[in-house]
Amino acid sequence: MNAKITRRHTLAAFALAATALSPFAAHAEDVVKVGVILPMTGPSASTGREIAAAIKLFQAQKGDKAGGKKVEVIIKDDTGVADITKRLAQELIVNDKASVIAGFGLTPLALAVAPIATQAKVPAVVMAAGTAIITEASPYIVRTSFTLPQNTMPIAQWAVKNGIKKVVTLVTDYGPGIDAEKTFVATIKENGGQVLDSLRSPLKNPEFAPFLQKAKDLKPDALFLFVPSGQGAALMKQVSERDFAKEGIKVIGTGDVTDDEQLNNMGDAVLGMITSHNYSADHDSPENKAYVAAFEKANPGLRPNFMSVGGYDGMALIYAALDKTKGDTNGTKLVEAMKGMSWTSPRGPISIDPETRDIIQNVYIRKVEKKNGQLYNVEFSTMANVKDPFKAAKAAKK
Ligand code: DHB
Repeated sequence: MNAKITRRHTLAAFALAATALSPFAAHAEDVVKVGVILPMTGPSASTGREIAAAIKLFQAQKGDKAGGKKVEVIIKDDTGVADITKRLAQELIVNDKASVIAGFGLTPLALAVAPIATQAKVPAVVMAAGTAIITEASPYIVRTSFTLPQNTMPIAQWAVKNGIKKVVTLVTDYGPGIDAEKTFVATIKENGGQVLDSLRSPLKNPEFAPFLQKAKDLKPDALFLFVPSGQGAALMKQVSERDFAKEGIKVIGTGDVTDDEQLNNMGDAVLGMITSHNYSADHDSPENKAYVAAFEKANPGLRPNFMSVGGYDGMALIYAALDKTKGDTNGTKLVEAMKGMSWTSPRGPISIDPETRDIIQNVYIRKVEKKNGQLYNVEFSTMANVKDPFKAAKAAKK
């Protein structure tokens, strides 16, 4: 027994010495670990698939060094369950010594890690979730995705400008859906419009048919829709079976509904649908053309969507922060470095609001059109540098 222990110790000591002597060995302190927690399986797996692909692309293009250190990404699957997100965040920080955690495919998952980020003083980069209050849940949260009020305001203003007076809203019944509903309803009412009903469908096992029938019976000028990424195709199939256009009802929404990952399979029934959003694979810029080409080359058959750019830009932010701190992984210093950072994303110019740690970005009004036989969200109008309207209103009151 004793002999065994001694032998093991000797071996361990030998291994350590060999590591220290080897000119090729990476010292532990030269590696920065980024723990990425995503729903890789389950109902939100498309979000995980898109973000993981974008992170891999980013590292393939830019290399694995930032601030003079090797950046090691560890991707973990929380299956979309908040208790698992929480456990994985703790394990990544305590066992793996992750200096940054990132990902978070749904609002409840991002909120679940907020207290852990605060306690551990580890930056949590939200690459997907979009409820406005998330960044207020911890001073260590920084967001590279979007907020629903930010993405909803422009389509609400478009509706007002286009003579839409009576509306019905149908959203998924949780944080981002309620943010979208609140923003849309407030803008319509402020402009003298009327909200005939605000309907909410459950996040799990959504059943759209009864809500859509109710919306149709109310005969609004427009039906406003929000569902999270991955549910758009199922919703639009039900919408197309009800021919709202024949009743003179416009169907509009946020771009989460006409999600680039699923859009091509939605069929011609979505042609002409107007939405507002922070990203379209069709965005006309050299950065985006290069991004889409590289993404599709690395992931045949998969089109990058708005979740993917949240992941790609999240990595860009982590690299830039490490460059700025010269590889110092102190969490407070990293968050400070992230504040006010600005760069050109495939989606257009973006920056991190130094006050709120939330993203400021362009939001585009788009129309579904066919290009070379493929369906795309074609941008036709831009609202530049949009700040989350809830936080902008709060800041104005101060
Ligand atoms: C959220 C998730 C989504 O898939 C989306 O499109 C918007 C918001 C969320 O849970 O915050």
